[in-house]
Amino acid sequence: MHDTIHPVPADWSQSARVDAAAYEAMYRRSVEDPNGFWAEQAERLDWIKPFTKVKNTSFAPGAVSVKWFEDGVLNASANCLDRHLATRGDKVAIIWEGDDPSESRSITYRELHAEVNRFANVLKKLGVAKGDRVTIYLPMIPEAAMAMLACARIGAIHSIVFGGFSPDSLAGRIGDCHSKVVITADEGLRGGKKVPLKHNTDTALTKTIGDEKVLVIRRTGSEVAMHAGRDYWYHEIAATVSDVCEPEPMNAEDPLFILYTSGSTGRPKGVLHTTGGYLLHAALTHEIVFDIREDDVFWCTADVGWVTGHSYIVYGPLANGTTVVMFEGIPNYPTNARFWQVVDKHKVTIFHTAPTAIRALMQAGDEPVKSSSRASLRLLGSVGEPINPEAWEWYYRVVGENRCPIVDTWWQTETGGVLITPLPGATPLKPGSASWPFFGVQPAIVDADGKIIEGACEGNLVILDSWPGQMRTVYGDHDRFEQTYFSTYKNMYFTGDGCRRDADGYYWITGRVDDVINVSGHRMGTAEVESALVSHTKVSEAAVVGYPHDIKGQGIYAYVTLMHGVSPSEDLRKELKNWVRAEIGPIATPDLLQFAPGLPKTRSGKIMRRILRKIAEDEFGALGDISTLSDPAVVDDLIANRQNRK
Ligand code: WTA
Repeated sequence: MHDTIHPVPADWSQSARVDAAAYEAMYRRSVEDPNGFWAEQAERLDWIKPFTKVKNTSFAPGAVSVKWFEDGVLNASANCLDRHLATRGDKVAIIWEGDDPSESRSITYRELHAEVNRFANVLKKLGVAKGDRVTIYLPMIPEAAMAMLACARIGAIHSIVFGGFSPDSLAGRIGDCHSKVVITADEGLRGGKKVPLKHNTDTALTKTIGDEKVLVIRRTGSEVAMHAGRDYWYHEIAATVSDVCEPEPMNAEDPLFILYTSGSTGRPKGVLHTTGGYLLHAALTHEIVFDIREDDVFWCTADVGWVTGHSYIVYGPLANGTTVVMFEGIPNYPTNARFWQVVDKHKVTIFHTAPTAIRALMQAGDEPVKSSSRASLRLLGSVGEPINPEAWEWYYRVVGENRCPIVDTWWQTETGGVLITPLPGATPLKPGSASWPFFGVQPAIVDADGKIIEGACEGNLVILDSWPGQMRTVYGDHDRFEQTYFSTYKNMYFTGDGCRRDADGYYWITGRVDDVINVSGHRMGTAEVESALVSHTKVSEAAVVGYPHDIKGQGIYAYVTLMHGVSPSEDLRKELKNWVRAEIGPIATPDLLQFAPGLPKTRSGKIMRRILRKIAEDEFGALGDISTLSDPAVVDDLIANRQNRK
């Protein structure tokens, strides 16, 4: 079978920031002379004290260390705000589009600067100082970006927890980094439904040390409980402080933020990013991958609770002085035409979303798309999970009317910014492939023995050398950082992804090869869902796997063994699904739950997930060798009662 190829449109190869020749030359230079290349690129940032050293990194076993620009001093918020005031003070920084289509708001760079200064002073008044951790648990309102930049301004380390996470998940993340302040809102608003953020925060704080303060932003105006001495209204303190706060000089390697993400073990990891390298990588990739121009209106539909929101709603675009759209709502509220109405309303030129949203909208048909003009669009983006060629083609043909290139950007919370991606003026597009490495990125594919394989091949994706946006450590647990990413293959960063490379050197990400599943572009550790299930008194054992899901990419399939004497029932199935929902959050709710009297185990007691995956996929004809199971008969029962029948 031949892959479809969409050549680079002539106008793009002429006008884009980087054409094919420039890509080749710049890529070669970036890997042959990383110090020279990145020193030059780093000039795009404003440094309080220039760096003299560029790259100082090692992936060596037992001595993994990542430092970039280590003697440079800068401030991320000053780079996103102050330096634009002279030339872009009256330019719109954030166009906020509310959940309700009648609500929107524009904030200029000058206004955003003043608000962030004020916010920084509010944090100071609550006792927050350089190095302190601040948890942000907010809906998609401008204050979320302001809170991030206010932390950056005073050198506090923000840790955003997605507003869809439960009180328990929130409590774990507040506790792990021992946050001094939690910033939340009375309620969030999504798809016309209220999300009780303050109430969730109250519940979470019954499970933490209890010395945290809470800063509450008024969003819906609903009544919420306020605990004297602990809870403060943002608007009340804001009225008492000035809107001038000098940015704190930060070393390039001072932490900027922590973001918790799922891995193959139970507890989420606090991925730590620092100031200089991260900001440079976010800003440079944003400009080059999306070919950013001064008058672009850039809309990334992610939530700031995920890394995509950090890098491509806040830090990258604002460092570049771009106008961004920030959207509070969801793709299908009030109708399936919402995205395209917002595109028309704000004249969006670059639209960046996740394959799960594209697939859902594709299912709703072409009509809602065609009811809009979309004439302002010039470039489309995809991120978060592999995009199937059918969804890619629909996005290209129907949304972009065969006019807009699609950049399919592969990266991870750990990588800080995009690592593998087409560039719209340089890369012929193959639907479903993230294509080629970005500057400075050296991907390789290894076989089961960890040997690098060349040419067209398939195996596991590793990165051979550091890039500026790489995570520096797992917060408070450097051993776990080394163990997770550098112990599987020596001297290489292991991504956790499987990958194929074709004869043209295009990379095709095939999905996670560890116990992480990708549900609607959200990372979920199967171990997290399992531990939520076994914490229910009626559950004795649980195993969770992913299975192919038309809209979500992967769905969550749970096998549950009940305690002795407990009988399975539809009510219990519902109860257990709701239990996980309440323990972790709605995104973790199992799609399918099968009661299993026994799980397939080896004689040494290890659950054979390979078999569970096959049955979940409804591919039980190909179970392979099951003779090593301690009780092969359990497999017959699993097959007979499987929940996914195609
Ligand atoms: C997957 C999101 C295929 C991948 C930015 C990765 C992708 C995980 C793509 C990271 C893509 C992300 N094509 N797969 N374009 N982008 N992934 O940390 O499995 O939430 O390891 O970062 O998402 O998810 P994370």
